[in-house]
Amino acid sequence: MTESASLRAHAAVPFMNPLSEADVDGAIAGLELPAGARVVETGCGAAVLLRRVLAAHPGASGVGVDPDGEALARARAAGVDAELIEARAQDAGLREGAFDLVVNVAASHAHGGFPDALRELRALARPHGGLVLFGEGFWAREPSPAFLDALGGATADELPLGLDALLDAARAAGLAPVAPPRVASAADWAAYEDGLAAEAERYDDAEARDYAARIRARHALPYGRDTFGFALLVLQR
Ligand SMILES: C[S@@+](CC[C@H](N)C(=O)[O-])C[C@H]1O[C@@H](n2cnc3c(N)ncnc32)[C@H](O)[C@@H]1O
Repeated sequence: MTESASLRAHAAVPFMNPLSEADVDGAIAGLELPAGARVVETGCGAAVLLRRVLAAHPGASGVGVDPDGEALARARAAGVDAELIEARAQDAGLREGAFDLVVNVAASHAHGGFPDALRELRALARPHGGLVLFGEGFWAREPSPAFLDALGGATADELPLGLDALLDAARAAGLAPVAPPRVASAADWAAYEDGLAAEAERYDDAEARDYAARIRARHALPYGRDTFGFALLVLQR
């Protein structure tokens, strides 16, 4: 089966999110995990983050969950040493309280979206100290109707308005930030989304052309490059 335009375009960038490798690796290196830590990544895609966690924390073991078999095939081809479950997070039989680290980045929709996902992620983490590495978008400014349309009919309430609102939602869900948030810079966003569009434009099929055109059209809007934010949080239950 042909991979989706999104999956093909993402071959050009390190993650399926706009974070820099320095921010991801820095956050992972700073995680205080117990010996033999159990790690789960929901919405893992090609499990790039999970692989980096396991490489940085020898002795940890991991589970990756994603319903996209093609993305998991990429993870297997890259040699990830983890159990990979092809399922939606809610169908994967994940045990509550069982994980020293729960990773969920650009995938809160796997748990009902923002902000409900925070409570589900907390529930998976070990009581009294389990960590959640959570990557989520936020509106860096109020999204215009045209910007929301360009996203295919998104609504403003899908994301918090501002980084502080994202942090407040985490606290309200019973998760305490334990490291400074890492926020994608304008340069990170440009490298990510221009990289995706340029890679998709290398393909000669309608789906890939449309994928690239939608990114370019959104960038051309007023504040088209300044409306999205994305942050990586280290949270503790
Ligand atoms: C934007 S990608 C993020 C992948 C990876 N976390 C990263 O940042 O590189 C979102 C992923 O969530 C997965 N996904 C969508 N619905 C899901 C669900 N109900 N349960 C688990 N994963 C889901 C998609 O298949 C996709 O691989």
